[in-house]
Amino acid sequence: MEKIEAVLKEERVFYPSEAFRQKARINQLQEYETLYKESLEQPEAFWGRVAGELHWFQPWQKVLEWNPPNAKWFIGGKLNLSYNCLDRHLETRGNKAAILFEGEPGDSRILTYQQLHREVCKFANVLKSLGVQKGDRVTIYLPMIPEAAIAMLACVRIGAVHSVVFGGFSASALADRINDAQAKVLITADGGYRRGGVVPLKANSDEALADTKSIQHVVVVKRTGQEVPMQAGRDHWYHELMADASAVCPAEPMDAEDPLFILYTSGSTGKPKGVLHTTGGYSVYTYLTTRYIFDLQENDTYFCTADVGWITGHSYVVYGLLQNGATTLMYEGAPNFPNEGRIWSIIEKYRVNILYTAPTAIRAFMKWGEEWPRKYNLESLRLLGSVGEPINPEAWLWYYRVIGQERCPIVDTWWQTETGGIMITTLPGVHPMKPGHAGKPFFGVKPEIVDSSGQAVTNPDEGGHLIIERPWPSMLRTVWGDPERFERQYFSQYPGRYFTGDGAKRDADGYYMILGRVDDVLNVSGHRLGTMEIESALVAHPAVAEAAVVGRPDPIKGEGIVAFVTLKSGHNPSPELAQELKAHVVKMIGAIARPDEIRITDALPKTRSGKIMRRLLRQVAAGEEIKGDTSTLEDRAVVERLKASSPH
Ligand code: PRX
Repeated sequence: MEKIEAVLKEERVFYPSEAFRQKARINQLQEYETLYKESLEQPEAFWGRVAGELHWFQPWQKVLEWNPPNAKWFIGGKLNLSYNCLDRHLETRGNKAAILFEGEPGDSRILTYQQLHREVCKFANVLKSLGVQKGDRVTIYLPMIPEAAIAMLACVRIGAVHSVVFGGFSASALADRINDAQAKVLITADGGYRRGGVVPLKANSDEALADTKSIQHVVVVKRTGQEVPMQAGRDHWYHELMADASAVCPAEPMDAEDPLFILYTSGSTGKPKGVLHTTGGYSVYTYLTTRYIFDLQENDTYFCTADVGWITGHSYVVYGLLQNGATTLMYEGAPNFPNEGRIWSIIEKYRVNILYTAPTAIRAFMKWGEEWPRKYNLESLRLLGSVGEPINPEAWLWYYRVIGQERCPIVDTWWQTETGGIMITTLPGVHPMKPGHAGKPFFGVKPEIVDSSGQAVTNPDEGGHLIIERPWPSMLRTVWGDPERFERQYFSQYPGRYFTGDGAKRDADGYYMILGRVDDVLNVSGHRLGTMEIESALVAHPAVAEAAVVGRPDPIKGEGIVAFVTLKSGHNPSPELAQELKAHVVKMIGAIARPDEIRITDALPKTRSGKIMRRLLRQVAAGEEIKGDTSTLEDRAVVERLKASSPH
């Protein structure tokens, strides 16, 4: 306990090594400061110059138009993200590895830029032959295999809008996302490998399709080879369609503001929202952030452990990397299959230079023990990254010492599905690192910490809400099909300013520390889940009358899920029912949402106006004393009864 407390107060500052600094793309603090200043004072000049490094079919007339909450970037410009990821490199990097793939069973594949270009062109033609047109939505429900990137790039190539659904989501979650986007085509696989087992993606898809009407065709990649039913006319094997497809498919010139992709994420209401990103701004911002934050060098091998089903997989497995002509490694499976050394064995095998992972994974690595990474040669590593949740100083120090061998800088990158790219981080060749602090704003980003009235909090280290003052190129443009929700969710609390939903504080050096969500959003193993989403799943069970879900601190996952439920009459609490409710949530959403604990109780703590007092539930869930005002409770005896309810 003593040690943890000492670490929590970690105030040491770590500097990038001279060896790293010398070769870094940006290695003078002055350079960061000049560019940062320019990015805010002359955004047209700054972003225009960056955008000019990409290929445009037609130049933009104006860099930015901002009518809060609506931003338009690179107005009038025409480009294609697949062109910038592929065609642009054919001459200079055609035979360079674009994707290194390691399957969970140990199979591997390498796709050069040339080969990836060919596969993408062929699949783009397949999509066209299935009737997919510019603007149509395509849902992608695949494992972490190269076909996931191929499918994404093929959609982008013809101007179709992809919606990637994480392979760990259930049939019911998939159906909701297909319906919301009204997708025309679904791309899936027979199955995917995970921890030695097979995830039945096609079976889940079939179940989802029973509840959807919009899908006309299903393309199935053969990955695991198990028997799957194929519905004639609707279902097609990927390899059969690809066999006859032409490899010639020019990239469609897209307007800078044409929709690029939808990605669903959890909010504080029950229904996940479809975050919409558009073409020009997203391309330019992910291109630049990848280059500078990961200090990408031409011969680097880069490995991000995120799945393409999340924004990290979109921006920092696929698009940011390929736009830079880099080599990106995709790993299909679990980090502890066949043993706890898997990630380190991959780093050794491919001589990975840059590793980007999440604090929850780092805490699991710590639990498994230093002996695992020690068995492998990690000398190729040059830079480490962290994303998804606040990194506790113990985990930071372990990552720095054991994995980075005190040689690699760590970038703790704060951002969101909605921001499209990294917003707050240190630049590795320039900024000293402070464990637990994400760092400084990236170019073009103007964060502020405000109190509930919107006044800036100016005292160092005083907490408040984190907002972003101005639009940045990869800002979400809307919530798919619900512009009103977009405005209400992000721009109404502080009119005209983007509200992140996070709390934060800033120290005297201008470093931001992210304190976590201030809304009803949980962060479980770096995955975002709405408490309402889990509550809706629970009340959909016939035995449940009411449900209230809260987070509680968890040493590995960051946050665990505790659900308090009351039952309808005629149903009695039992451990079996608690298990059934957990399984029900898994069925409705997916394994990532499985409650760690169900507490069946006869009443929930409510105020006289009927609002559930979550603060009390959080305290009960964490096993803490009930603190704070309980005078507004309708029935004070409920607290004692809650404490007495047995956890399952
Ligand atoms: O609370 C913040 C946390 O993750 C949320 C965004 O989740 P999502 O949209 O799923 O995107 C995750 C990957 C970008 C944020 O509101 N978060 C993300 N990165 C960090 C973080 N919290 C602290 N430090 C970070 N580096």
